[in-house]
Amino acid sequence: MSLDVSQGKLVRLGILLSGRGSNFVAIAAAIEERGLSGVEIAVVLSNREDAGGLEAARVMGLPWRAIPSKGMKRAEHDAAMIAALGEFDVDLVCLAGYMRVLTPEFVGAFPGAILNIHPSLLPAFAGLEVQRAALEYGVKVAGCTVHFVDEAVDHGVIVLQRTVDVADEDTVETLSAKILVEEHRAYPEAIARVVSGQYRVVGRRYVKV
Ligand code: GAR
Repeated sequence: MSLDVSQGKLVRLGILLSGRGSNFVAIAAAIEERGLSGVEIAVVLSNREDAGGLEAARVMGLPWRAIPSKGMKRAEHDAAMIAALGEFDVDLVCLAGYMRVLTPEFVGAFPGAILNIHPSLLPAFAGLEVQRAALEYGVKVAGCTVHFVDEAVDHGVIVLQRTVDVADEDTVETLSAKILVEEHRAYPEAIARVVSGQYRVVGRRYVKV
């Protein structure tokens, strides 16, 4: 099943983040500058009260809520997140540096309507600290991936990828910064593609129609 993109209604995004929120800010900027149309940010949710992205949402006057995960069972926390997303009538969930693995219940609550951005060229370097892993492996090209979320970690159907060249002098910091520039372009573009509804999924392949 995929996202319902009925004519005339803005697709309501629910942004989930755990940290500074630069991808969220890039999405919000793309909407503001009309590079990304047909969507609105319904709510920004975080599992961390101290997430910089929540402060950014507050400054922008967007609805936000912290649902701290600390001390909560995963199923219980995900149920609270699903309830909040329902409360704000969210159509498309965008994980933007949300550092938690979703339960199958969460994935099942938004079939074909959860996106994630990951700072590597999947399926290479799933998991954490992937820019360091890519550098230490010695890859010459790195990048980012926007993909649908399924029940396996960093695994769902790929919407788009962007690459960067790895220079001999790159450090984890410089490579991460180069990839982040591409992330900020890639995520709004991927959202635009998905809300256009002009695609179908064939096996593991996202193809335009
Ligand atoms: C981004 O690099 C994003 O790709 C990564 O966390 C960072 C969040 O930055 N996500 C993951 O590693 C998910 N597995 P941001 O808070 O500034 O958007």
